Amino acid sequence: MTSVPSPKTIHVFGSLNMDLVCRTPRLPQSGETVLGTDFATLPGGKGANQAVAAARLGVATTMVGRVGNDAFGRQLVQELQGAGVDTSGVTTAADGPTGVAAIAVDEVGHNTIVVVPGANGGVGDEEVKRLTDGLGPGDLVLLQFEVPLPTVMAAAQAAHAQGATVIVDPAPAHDHLPPEFFKTVNILTPNQTEASQLTGLAVSDVATAQAAAGQLVRRGVAVAIVKLGEQGAVVADGGGSFHQPPLPVKAIDTVAAGDAFNGGLAVALAEGRALKEAVAFANAVAAASVMVSGAQASMPTRSRVAALQMGLKHL
Ligand code: RIB
Repeated sequence: MTSVPSPKTIHVFGSLNMDLVCRTPRLPQSGETVLGTDFATLPGGKGANQAVAAARLGVATTMVGRVGNDAFGRQLVQELQGAGVDTSGVTTAADGPTGVAAIAVDEVGHNTIVVVPGANGGVGDEEVKRLTDGLGPGDLVLLQFEVPLPTVMAAAQAAHAQGATVIVDPAPAHDHLPPEFFKTVNILTPNQTEASQLTGLAVSDVATAQAAAGQLVRRGVAVAIVKLGEQGAVVADGGGSFHQPPLPVKAIDTVAAGDAFNGGLAVALAEGRALKEAVAFANAVAAASVMVSGAQASMPTRSRVAALQMGLKHL
C-alpha cells in the first residue's frame, strides 16, 4: 500500500456484511430459477467496502459499526484490519447475526442484492458517540443507508455540526427523507436508481441526472453527484453542473463500484484536491474496481488507479 501524507482522517459509519455471491449467466426474473456457475463468501457491506477503498488508497481510515458474535463478524473485522482500517469503533452485538447480502452477478457484471441487516440494524446512539468522539478538524465522514435511518441522520447532523465534511451514499434508497437531512449533507452521491427515487424524476442519462442533481442542491445539499456507471458522473453545486465522462473499461463485476467511487472521492478530498479532480479520481477508482470480482477484494491500490488514469488498462 502506498502511503500518502494527509492530515485528515476518513471516518466510515455504516454496515459490515458478509456477501454470499452467486455468479450466473443471467439474473433470474421473478419466479424463475436459473443455474449459476460459482459461489463465494466474500467480505462486503457498503460501509466496510468504502472503508477498505479509502484505506487501500493510503489515507488513515476508521470504521464505526456493529457485527454479530459469529464467524462472519470476526472475519469481517479481520479483513478490515488487514486492509489497514482502524476497527476500534466496530462493536460486537450481544445478540443477532452479522449482516449478510445475497448477491447475484451476471456475465456482464450486473447484479442484484438483497441485504439482511442483522447486527447493522442495532447501530445507534452508542456508535454516533464513538464517531463524534473520534472526529478531528477537517475530517471526512462517509455514511450510507444500511444502518437505521434515524441513526444516519443523527450521525450526519452531529458530524456536520463539528465541521466534518459529510458524504452520504443514499443506498439503499429511501424515497421520503426529511427536508432537514439535506442541509446536513455536504456531498450526496446517489446512483441512477437512487436519484430517481429521491427526486421523482426518471434519471436515465446525463441530462436527466443534471436535473436531478440540481433539484438535490436546491433541497439543501452543497454538492450532488449522480453516479451513472457506464455514463460517468454528473456533479452539481450552487454554481452549476458538469459531466465527468467514464473511463472505458471492461466490467466483470460492478458490485461495490459505488462504494469504490465514494472511498476514492473521500481520499481525493482529504488530500485537498479540487472537486473536479476528486470526481475524476473517484471515477477511476470505480472503474478499476469493476475489473476485479468481489466487493472489498476489488478495491484498487493507488498504483492501479494511476495506471488506469494514464491509459494502462491491463493493470
Ligand atoms: O455496495 C455493495 C454492497 O452492498 C455489498 O458488498 C453488499 O454487502 C451490500 O451491502
